[in-house]
Amino acid sequence: MQNRQWKLARHPLAGWPLDDDFIFSDTQLPVPAADQLSARTIYLSMDPYQWGRRRAGIEVPGDVCHGRTVSQVVHSRHPGYQEGDFIFSTNGWQDYGLVGRDIDFFNYMLPRKIDPSQAPISTAIGVLGMLGLTAYAGMYLQCQPQPGETVVVSAASGGVGQNAGQIAKIKGCRVVGVVGSDEKCDFVTDTLGFAACINRKAEDFSEQLARACPDGVDIYFENVGGAVYESVLPLLNKQSRIALCGMISTYGDDREAGLKQWRMTGKPYFDRHQVKVHGLFVGDFVEKYQAQFLAEMADWVKDGLVKYKEDFWDGLEQAPKAFSTMLSGGNFGKTIVKVSDDPTTN
Ligand SMILES: NC(=O)c1ccc[n+]([C@@H]2O[C@H](COP(=O)([O-])OP(=O)(O)OC[C@H]3O[C@@H](n4cnc5c(N)ncnc54)[C@H](OP(=O)(O)O)[C@@H]3O)[C@@H](O)[C@H]2O)c1
Repeated sequence: MQNRQWKLARHPLAGWPLDDDFIFSDTQLPVPAADQLSARTIYLSMDPYQWGRRRAGIEVPGDVCHGRTVSQVVHSRHPGYQEGDFIFSTNGWQDYGLVGRDIDFFNYMLPRKIDPSQAPISTAIGVLGMLGLTAYAGMYLQCQPQPGETVVVSAASGGVGQNAGQIAKIKGCRVVGVVGSDEKCDFVTDTLGFAACINRKAEDFSEQLARACPDGVDIYFENVGGAVYESVLPLLNKQSRIALCGMISTYGDDREAGLKQWRMTGKPYFDRHQVKVHGLFVGDFVEKYQAQFLAEMADWVKDGLVKYKEDFWDGLEQAPKAFSTMLSGGNFGKTIVKVSDDPTTN
């Protein structure tokens, strides 16, 4: 048996991923050393930060593309794991990966076993994984939503956004989503139950957003930056809060344009109303809050208070296409590549 892998073909300097940025190849199955294990990739997470790593040169040509995964242990030389265990790992864009503390800097969440009786195992890279924790940290812990407040969430149907908005709803807020299509708008209002949702591509987007927030905005959960960010800033209320989670609209910019965007911090608006802006790096919340987050979010999912939407692609060979589709907004929900059979769904 061979291990199929996607490797980075060249250092992408600007723009969005192209087919030529990746090479598909075969190699031998990995063999674990002492205290390591090998794991079969079941679900592979597609995340915007992966493009940042490639652009920044953290991943270099020839490297297997980095990616978080839900995997099943095939061979364990680690006393804490047995063949058949489901784990959250960082196999990357390949069929099989090695897992061990020293293998990948991003393994700080490892080794976490996944309990298939708690929820579908794919949720470990979605609503019950880093994306859920990001939403929980930014919305719940940082912005502390209060009943009756108006909350705006951008990329509201996406991996982080769908969770952030639903947490604000659980806390009694009036939640307004911003998305990139009418179909996504319908999902956000009809399925997730947000009070309103605006298509960011509408010509009169700013006016529509202002009309949807007649009492102004108390919390903005920022995922996209650019024109959406500029439209929300004038609506901010006194002592409003922003979770500055991400600015995906800038991730394909060349260096100068990217710097210009990041310089556009919105300081005049923040100063006028003493707005609190929270820097948000999910890794800072893992140690202290992961157990609390998992307990609370798992209950919300079980009770149907938090719904989640996953956007599956079938087969490892689809990884580059799934990745570029997600980065350009063509995804609908949390993007996951199904690499191999999920025995818990048979
Ligand atoms: N701070 C942290 O620790 C942390 C951790 C995880 C993720 N993040 C950030 O969270 C954000 C969402 O990540 P995700 O994994 O949940 O992805 P996602 O929302 O599932 O997918 C990305 C979404 O971004 C929107 N988008 C793409 N290009 C855009 C553009 N030019 N202008 C406006 N919107 C655009 C699209 O939604 P629409 O078409 O519906 O607008 C697309 O579906 C990203 O900014 C990511 O970097 C931050």
